[in-house]
Order: sequence, then structure tokens, then C-alpha cells
Amino acid sequence: MSIEQLAETAQAMVAPGKGIIAIDESGATCAKRFAGVGIENTEENRRRYRELLLTTPKLSDYISGAILFDETIRQSTSDGVPFAKYMSEHGMIPGIKVDKGTHNLAGFPGEVVTEGLDGLRARLEEYYKLGARFAKWRAVINIGEDIPSGTCIDANTHALARYAALCQEQGLVPMVEPEVIMDGSHDLDTCYEVTEVTLRSLFASLYEHSVMLEGTILKASMVVPGTTSGEDVGYDEVAAATLQCLKSTVPATLPGIVFLSGGQSDEAATAHLNAMNQMGPNPWPLSFSYGRAMQAAALKLWSQDLVNNFARAQQTVYERARDNGLAALGQWKQ
Ligand code: 13P
Repeated sequence: MSIEQLAETAQAMVAPGKGIIAIDESGATCAKRFAGVGIENTEENRRRYRELLLTTPKLSDYISGAILFDETIRQSTSDGVPFAKYMSEHGMIPGIKVDKGTHNLAGFPGEVVTEGLDGLRARLEEYYKLGARFAKWRAVINIGEDIPSGTCIDANTHALARYAALCQEQGLVPMVEPEVIMDGSHDLDTCYEVTEVTLRSLFASLYEHSVMLEGTILKASMVVPGTTSGEDVGYDEVAAATLQCLKSTVPATLPGIVFLSGGQSDEAATAHLNAMNQMGPNPWPLSFSYGRAMQAAALKLWSQDLVNNFARAQQTVYERARDNGLAALGQWKQ
């Protein structure tokens, strides 16, 4: 796989006015989301729900690709078309979550490290054959009393770099996601510092592992105050802090940055992205790779009537995609 092909895929993922829909909830996370709205967690319901999202009419107007879970990339539409094939035929790039989740970091209470490197080369090879052209690995950095430790940050960014190098070897664009978690009573400045040190460590590790930035996408968390901090900040303040932090740490050769929503409201996720793009020009396209902020409205509506609300739920997916697509251009109007 040439760097040109990886770069082409990476650029297509962040094409102007387009972003990614993250529908890669693991079995456990999907069970939690379904339980929250009273949907039975069966394989058929998970398949049908992913079908609802992916077959939303005209989704590719604003969506360049979707991140799938292992189960989903092996599933098909009701007409028997594998989801990855359906996506490619409808102008969307299939992506795949390849990490195996977070586990307690031994010796460091309250901190976690993402696992999944063992056997990853063979899994990537299979995912490529199944149609995936990019992959995602999520590291989690918690903020609290005396955490994160440098050890936790380095363990996580080292794993991200090893994963990214393997992805490129196997022809997949790595989407590297170091998520600084919003939960906690910390203020915005603390989130800024933690995000900054995490991104510095990440790009140092990527360099040490010879990862080609031209064929890499960063999935970043925004710089926000902790959810229980009581600090009241406006959309512009979050946007300015996030931009400043990214400009200080992320090389301009990176083809693009997409954000996770991380528990922000739908409106906040869109407004923050819009504000950052209005503050441009920026060194890289800034777009979205939202999970909850793309799906929450649709999941709620669908849960009320799995048969009759299918098309209405798809309409909300389209509207969320359109709003975030416009925000990726700084053209969203509330
Ligand atoms: P949220 O947008 O719901 O945070 O999910 C994005 C994601 O893929 C987290 O890994």
C-alpha cells in the first residue's frame, strides 16, 4: 500500500463539508444504549439499527465514512448486501474499530490502558479484505486527583503508535483517538494542559514508530471544563481553547482532525465545531466523528416504534449529518 493511497483515503475522510458517523459501539456499550431507551439487545435489533443509520437516504451528502464494530462489518442489509459493500456503493468509506477496550492500568488506580495489540496484524488483514479502509483505536485519559500520570499517557500513546504503524502496513488509515474524558470537577485550563501533554506524547510516539502523518487522522476531544466543575464557558471559549491546543501540538502535515462528541449535547457538539471553523483558516480540515451527537435523537425516536418510526428516525440522522456537515464549513446557523 502506497502512502499516496493512504493519503487519498485520509483526505476523502475529511472532504469539505463531510464527516464521519461513529457507530462502532461494542456489544457492552450497545447494550447500555439500548437499555437506556428500552430496546431489546438482540443481534437482529443491533443489525436493524445499524441498517437504519447506514441506509439513511442521501447520507453521503454529509458523511464520508462510518466506523463499524466487528459484528457490524460482518452483517448485511435486509436485502443481503454486506454493510461495507453497501457503503462503498453509496460513496462512504467503511472504517472499523480495532481496539479491545480499556483495562485498569496495573499499579495506577483510576487509570486505564487500551488493549488489543496482540494478533492485530492478522485482524487488520481480515478487515481490509472485508472492505475496511480506515481503523480506529480509542485511548482513554481520565482527569482526577493526581491523574493522569505520565506513565498512563505514555502507555496509551505508545499503544496508539504501534496500532497506527500496523494499520499503515496493512493499507488502512489509522484514526488515532486519545480521548481526554469530560467527567470530573476539573476546570477548562486543566483539560487544556492534559490534552496538550497527551497530544505531545502522541505525536512523539507516532514519530518514533515511523507513522506517516500524511496517512493518519486524529480523532480529538475538545478542551472543555469537567462536567461537574460548575465552570460556565461559552461556545467560543471552548472553540478558541481547543484550537490553540491543537495548533500548539499537531503538525500541519496531518490531513485532518475529527472530533468525538464525548457526551456533549447535540447542539454543543455542532456549535463548537462551527465556531472553530469560523475562527479559521486552520492548518487542517476540522470535522466530526460523532457517535452520540449523531445518533441520540434517532435512537430515541426509533425506540418508540421500531417499525413505524424507521424512516422518521432516518430523517433525524440526515438532519444531524447536515448540521454537522455545515459546521465543518463554519456555515451552520442555529
Ligand atoms: P461519541 O461522539 O459518542 O463520544 O463517540 C465517538 C467515538 O467513537 C468514541 O470512541
